[in-house]
Amino acid sequence: MDSAEKVCIIGAGGSGIVAAQVLDAHGIPFDCFEKGSYIGGNWRYENDNGMSSAYRSLHINTSRRVMAFRSLPMPDHFPDYPDHFQMAAYFDEFADHFGLREKISFRTEVVNAKPADGAWAVTVKGEDGGERTERYRAVIVANGHHWDPRWPEPAFPGSEDFEGEQLHAHHYREPDVLRGKRVLVLGLGNSAVDIAVESSRIADKTFISTRRGAYVIPKYINGKPIDELSNPITSMTPLAVQRFFAMRALGVASAADPTAYGLPKPDHKLFEAHPTVSSELLPRLGHGDITAKPNIDRYPGGRTVRFVDGSSEEIDLVVYCTGYKMTFPFFDPKVFSAPENRLPLYRRVVSVERPGLYFIGFIQPLGPIMPLAEAQCEWVADLLDGRVTLPPAGEMKREIAREERKQRKRFVASKRHTVEVDFHPYLREIRRERKRAEQPA
Ligand SMILES: Cc1cc2nc3c(=O)[nH]c(=O)nc-3n(C[C@H](O)[C@H](O)[C@H](O)COP(=O)(O)OP(=O)(O)OC[C@H]3O[C@@H](n4cnc5c(N)ncnc54)[C@H](O)[C@@H]3O)c2cc1C
Ligand SMILES: NC(=O)c1ccc[n+]([C@@H]2O[C@H](COP(=O)([O-])OP(=O)(O)OC[C@H]3O[C@@H](n4cnc5c(N)ncnc54)[C@H](OP(=O)(O)O)[C@@H]3O)[C@@H](O)[C@H]2O)c1
Repeated sequence: MDSAEKVCIIGAGGSGIVAAQVLDAHGIPFDCFEKGSYIGGNWRYENDNGMSSAYRSLHINTSRRVMAFRSLPMPDHFPDYPDHFQMAAYFDEFADHFGLREKISFRTEVVNAKPADGAWAVTVKGEDGGERTERYRAVIVANGHHWDPRWPEPAFPGSEDFEGEQLHAHHYREPDVLRGKRVLVLGLGNSAVDIAVESSRIADKTFISTRRGAYVIPKYINGKPIDELSNPITSMTPLAVQRFFAMRALGVASAADPTAYGLPKPDHKLFEAHPTVSSELLPRLGHGDITAKPNIDRYPGGRTVRFVDGSSEEIDLVVYCTGYKMTFPFFDPKVFSAPENRLPLYRRVVSVERPGLYFIGFIQPLGPIMPLAEAQCEWVADLLDGRVTLPPAGEMKREIAREERKQRKRFVASKRHTVEVDFHPYLREIRRERKRAEQPA
């Protein structure tokens, strides 16, 4: 077969393998290239691709029934919030169940992809270091967006002379590095709360430093995983109504007012930031095992860290939980890039400028990524099948601009929110696209 009839999938994490499964089910030929030796991407602890951000104690924070692919539930014997070993086992089971393993080229890195005469020229580097280039009708990018650490930008003054250690959450694995130290965790996203809680059990002293407040959402309400409370019907009520009931639930869990635990008052409403989920952070603050501090101001010398309120602490280790960059090392920036994490894609999937280029999993949902990635793949398969078509380019560009305005109005201005979506409304958008009737070219 002329490979320009095939589709190239980059990556075999959750997004890549569901792309492979959906294309396979549609009878669309593809090659799937995976840099590492395993399926599962981020969820493969110590993945030999060198890209996983999973730490030893990591559990999912979106519950398993909500997070599983719709085509294969997670096993019933799994807990509500499995750990990364169980997640990797689930991905293995998924690949075996659908017979995908032999369709993936492991230890094969995509090093370049560029448009070439109406198709795509993709260059891969195999295990032996040798490179080869083939033509594809389309490229599905599924290389993940939580592997390239974003360090504070700009760096805090004096950080280069700080005599303590500095680590990014991406490189954090085992709590041993925290033992007996005075640890400062920077940020108030999910990496920060997990690592601060872990540190509070083993470090000499733990501080969490944050430039803004957050509502810290527990994993359970009334014995049910909190994300099971949202469903397609509740998601159709106005946001203000959803917020009212959610704030009431948080009140019952004593989590509606983070200032009660020493954290700053959030400068935004609930659902205007990516959820920070932890059932442990607030009690650890209440116990005095973690101390909240405002943002870092500077490193004045030695091991001292000065904060913006003028206070200082002696710190042995700073853990920057400052998020990730979306990067595509296999694209020349002239072909595609995402400066400041901005991805101008139609419905977060389709490149208008680069026909035949699709992105799977490049969303940050209030909820899990995987079922949305699965829906994205079904839509892409429909497009590749010719069962549905895209709107004209002008219309797509206007929709992208409209979506960006909506995004800026709704969410806190931060590089972590450029691809934030509501779970059910986004699913509905993709379903609507899948109903778009085939039109003559
Ligand atoms: C600590 C942490 C916890 C998280 N917890 C949750 C959670 O509870 N729920 C949730 O929904 N999301 C969570 N996420 C988000 C996470 O990104 C997704 O769960 C999921 O890993 C996304 O899958 P993916 O396939 O898109 O990306 P990844 O899992 O990153 O997989 C990308 C794959 O592409 C491969 N690849 C990359 N570049 C190339 C190349 N050039 N050539 C070939 N292969 C390549 C990689 O080797 C990798 O296997 C978490 C993220 C982090 C960092
Ligand atoms: N399953 C789990 O339990 C789990 C665990 C870890 C991570 N995750 C997921 O992994 C993804 C990444 O999470 P993350 O926590 O690593 O990153 P993140 O969500 O991007 O959060 C980054 C945090 O760092 C702050 N920050 C960024 N730059 C800063 C600076 N220069 N100075 C001060 N503060 C700064 C941000 O504040 P602003 O809000 O002000 O920008 C935010 O609080 C998310 O999808 C998350 O849900 C899940």
